Amino acid sequence: MAVIAGNWKMYKTRSEALAYVQEFGPLVANTDREVVLCAPFTALATLAEKLPATGIALGAQNVHWEAEGAYTGEISPPMLTDLGVQYVIIGHSERRQYFGETDERVNLRLKAAQRYGLTPILCVGETLEQREQGLTEAHILAQLAQALVGVNVSRLIIAYEPIWAIGTGNTCPAEEANRVIGLIRKEVTLLQQVAQQTPDRVQILYGGSVKPDNIDELMAMPEIDGVLVGSASLDPHSFARIVNYQPVA
Ligand code: 13P
Repeated sequence: MAVIAGNWKMYKTRSEALAYVQEFGPLVANTDREVVLCAPFTALATLAEKLPATGIALGAQNVHWEAEGAYTGEISPPMLTDLGVQYVIIGHSERRQYFGETDERVNLRLKAAQRYGLTPILCVGETLEQREQGLTEAHILAQLAQALVGVNVSRLIIAYEPIWAIGTGNTCPAEEANRVIGLIRKEVTLLQQVAQQTPDRVQILYGGSVKPDNIDELMAMPEIDGVLVGSASLDPHSFARIVNYQPVA
């Protein structure tokens, strides 16, 4: 099933989140796609009350690796599952870029999320500089190798988010996103084999300036299982159009 996830980043108060769901819910009521809203921590409890009736799943944008402890400002996996949160974004490039996130910590978060039954959405992707230097593939493979040590690769979602495409309007061409995602799939399939894990197809999403006017082309690509959407998920109508995409032939 295609996964269409919205990453609200640091947007929306509780009342804004409620108004959004009221408008958005009916627009996606008939979809057979897995719709996920990854909201700020402060809106999760409010959304958790409203979303079950809509079939929309709830996600967070980060999680600590311990269940509890003296970690001022942090949120643990059981605190999220207690609210009904099902998904959690891990290793988003904005966390790596602005908050010192490392591959080691991404690995700890992934394992903790899985331990508590959360489905992680692991983000990987290259900078423009890395792309221009021909380092895209090597960088992504290194990110995966470090993030996935001891992780059950059959129980996570991966999002390919080239940093140069995030928030820029400069979407990665669909064929190129398809190519890189194919490469990621090859690598995780290999890891599944090595670890003798169930060879389930891992859901791999594309993220970076996904909009109503490019979703149909992206979702027509055979390797792209869904999308992770930032700014276009903030408006209920534009996100509903993305959820209700129609792949071009
Ligand atoms: P935009 O869709 O705003 O480019 O953001 C993408 C993103 O970072 C999703 O996690």
